[in-house]
Amino acid sequence: MACTGRRRSSVVSTFDVTARRVQILDPLGRAYRQAFETFVASTDQVRLAKQYLTAVVDQLPHRRIMIDAGAGEGGPTRWLAPSFLRTIALEPDPLRLPGLRTNCPTAEVLPATIDQAYIDVRADLVLCCHVLYHLPRSRWAANVCRMLGWLAPEGELVIVLENPASDNMRMVAELSGVTLDLAELAAQLDVPCTLETVPSTVHTETLEDAVTIAQFVFGFAPLNALPDRETLTDYVRRRFADPAGGYTFTCTQDFLRLRRPGFHQMDAR
Ligand SMILES: C[S@@+](CC[C@H](N)C(=O)[O-])C[C@H]1O[C@@H](n2cnc3c(N)ncnc32)[C@H](O)[C@@H]1O
Repeated sequence: MACTGRRRSSVVSTFDVTARRVQILDPLGRAYRQAFETFVASTDQVRLAKQYLTAVVDQLPHRRIMIDAGAGEGGPTRWLAPSFLRTIALEPDPLRLPGLRTNCPTAEVLPATIDQAYIDVRADLVLCCHVLYHLPRSRWAANVCRMLGWLAPEGELVIVLENPASDNMRMVAELSGVTLDLAELAAQLDVPCTLETVPSTVHTETLEDAVTIAQFVFGFAPLNALPDRETLTDYVRRRFADPAGGYTFTCTQDFLRLRRPGFHQMDAR
């Protein structure tokens, strides 16, 4: 399902422990925030993404304009914006805009989807971080082509998603049948690109925290058929229990990088 800022009718703001099905959490609700905080406190994923993206930015030949496509409340935007003269943050969900504006006061906020955004500048970096889960698979290539069109010569588009072999994405695939794979997208695109995988892990001391994070992962995915809570809890207990104690599972990320050729390289074609 494309996320165009409309809220899903099944979205909830507080956990209902009696609910049979896994709940999709309202990103502005207390339960979502708690789940997100539990995730961030239990993983190295955010730190490693920051480290990776900072290195990408350092290697860019120019750092004039950055576009963050699907900025959310501006996590990565905030890390990277100080390296650029100008930052444009695209975010279609009106409920996330106040947080985005607070976290990234210097960014120009565009309340639009990638499909609808009118961009009249060319960027040295276009970032699309953990956004494609929200788009139908059939629209991925068209959205990527649109973002490639926003690049200045020698600019780079970086798309981030969890790796399909990570425990998180395997869980989603096994319990819902949905698989999302940037390698498949890369094979479909007719442009040179590189795909790099950066391992990450979640570790929690309690089953409750592990299940909270697992629910959160399902909230990212465009699912019609959510598992029931008992099935999910059972899966987490069986698959993620760590012999050394607690629960450990991977949340490895893929970084797909597409570079637009420089003017001289385009002339040579
Ligand atoms: C999981 S959040 C990621 C936020 C941020 N990029 C990060 O990594 O922290 C996904 C964001 O993508 C936005 N989104 C969903 N569909 C979109 C679309 N078609 N175009 C642009 N953004 C979209 C959502 O509103 C949400 O804020």
